[in-house]
Amino acid sequence: MSKNFDVVVIGGGPGGYIAAIRAAQLGFNTACIDEWKNEKGGPAPGGTCTNVGCIPSKALLQSSEHYEHASHGFAEHGIEVKGLGLNLEKMLGRKNTVVKQNNDGILYLFKKNKVTFFHGRGSFTKGDANGYEIKVAGAAEESITAKHVIIATGSNARALPGVPFDEQLILSNTGALAITEVPKKLGVIGAGVIGLEMGSVWRRLGAEVTVLEALPAFLGAVDEQIAKEAQKLLTKQGLNVSLGVKIGEIKTGKKSVTVEYTDAKGDAQKGEFDKLIVSIGRTPNTIGLNAEGVGLKLDERGFIAVDGDCKTNLPNVWAVGDVVRGPMLAHKAEEEGVAVAERIAGQHGHVNFNTIPWVIYTSPEIAWVGKTEQQLKADGVQYKAGTFPFLANGRARALGDTSGMVKFLADAKTDEILGVHIVGPMASELISEAVVAMEFRASSEDIARICHAHPSLSEATKEAALAVDKRSLNF
Ligand code: FAD
Ligand code: NAI
Repeated sequence: MSKNFDVVVIGGGPGGYIAAIRAAQLGFNTACIDEWKNEKGGPAPGGTCTNVGCIPSKALLQSSEHYEHASHGFAEHGIEVKGLGLNLEKMLGRKNTVVKQNNDGILYLFKKNKVTFFHGRGSFTKGDANGYEIKVAGAAEESITAKHVIIATGSNARALPGVPFDEQLILSNTGALAITEVPKKLGVIGAGVIGLEMGSVWRRLGAEVTVLEALPAFLGAVDEQIAKEAQKLLTKQGLNVSLGVKIGEIKTGKKSVTVEYTDAKGDAQKGEFDKLIVSIGRTPNTIGLNAEGVGLKLDERGFIAVDGDCKTNLPNVWAVGDVVRGPMLAHKAEEEGVAVAERIAGQHGHVNFNTIPWVIYTSPEIAWVGKTEQQLKADGVQYKAGTFPFLANGRARALGDTSGMVKFLADAKTDEILGVHIVGPMASELISEAVVAMEFRASSEDIARICHAHPSLSEATKEAALAVDKRSLNF
């Protein structure tokens, strides 16, 4: 096996493994180094996304949603469930199986594409424009060389100062996905994406969930109208969200955690929880890379400094995904990985940040692409808005899920779609149409004139586009 590669990728998450596959497809002799271990100490490529992020969270969201349907939703359909039980061990076991299927899938893809995989930690030993030497510290230590290096080392959960994760009482995403007994009282600090998704999982399984958020607005980055609707719907389901809080002292006992905080009115409050999830954002991971040893520049927040093409300050060293600026999303990491492999091959890889979709997998789901109404106002852009509620959509009624709406924002003069925002059933799937439309710089009229299958949720998208011109047909 050759130890000299054209391209070496450090990190096998969605940014890294996809970059490695694309580089190999383009004819480069490629290696990928990833240090994640499964419970037996074996390789578990896929990074945060596969092991403790996107995949296991969606597995538990699905299982817990089935449970909620069985306990609360089926009755309306005339389905009577007697003796309903929860086997949490089995639910967690299924989640672990789904994770393993994805780990194995990536190892298979490496073989198929002739990417050499190294299990261990990769760190720079030396290098310059002529090539880099990288030490792989795994079961055995070895040294490999590469002309081009792509760093995709991802991110880690951010802890509150002085409150380290013990994954027993104070949980990061890792512990939040592996609670072995449904807590009676679950505290969550941070009403961001993880807080709402993991809070929903454990609420559906029976926990009383309190989410404490520092900002005064719910989901501040989301279109205000959509965020308000989402807050109303999630609160109605029983998720207790307190906004504008200031977290004080956190004390851990043997079996519980006490959180002192000040509420929005300035009154002192105290919450006692069986478990506490801290989901206040993530920090870039450059531990063990020996960045300083080779002079790799980080920015003031600890991210690897890159330009618009993901080039670092070192020649032929690139960085993608959570370890660089931009949204911390698996699909953003993947797009950057592909673009960098193509740039190395002399092609013109491109990532359009304006058309990266966001999805929060609560129920109903929240999804959006492009600008929010508040951003357009701040930018002084003249726009038209059109909304359509799922309440008026036949398929949503048949499904028994009529919550939420689709909202279109289009340029007042040209009618070009500037943003699409959805809270409602299957928003994660519906948003793709908007992404395609925006990539092709479609107008809202384009969507309004396209034939959509009936009955389908996508008709709500068409109707919202029609509403931009105040000519919805079904509302
Ligand atoms: P990572 O996935 O973090 O992968 C980095 C890999 O590099 C890891 O395997 C790490 O072990 C390895 N590594 C680090 N340093 C070294 C080294 N020196 N040598 C060798 N290996 C190294 N995003 C979505 O788009 N959709 C979702 O639904 C979603 N859900 C999420 C749910 C949760 C609970 C969390 C925490 C995140 C979620 N995300 C989601 C975000 C998503 O997981 C990240 O944006 C994505 O994983 C980033 O990919 P990456 O390749 O940059 O890094
Ligand atoms: P987040 O940035 O989404 O939310 C963090 C929240 O914590 C914010 O609302 C912030 O105001 C709040 N906060 C920060 N400090 C606080 C404090 N001291 N006290 C109280 N509240 C505080 O971060 P989160 O949820 O940790 O997720 C990290 C990232 O992972 C996300 O931003 C997203 O990029 C990614 N992710 C994506 C998912 C998806 O695409 N469906 C799912 C889960 C995570």
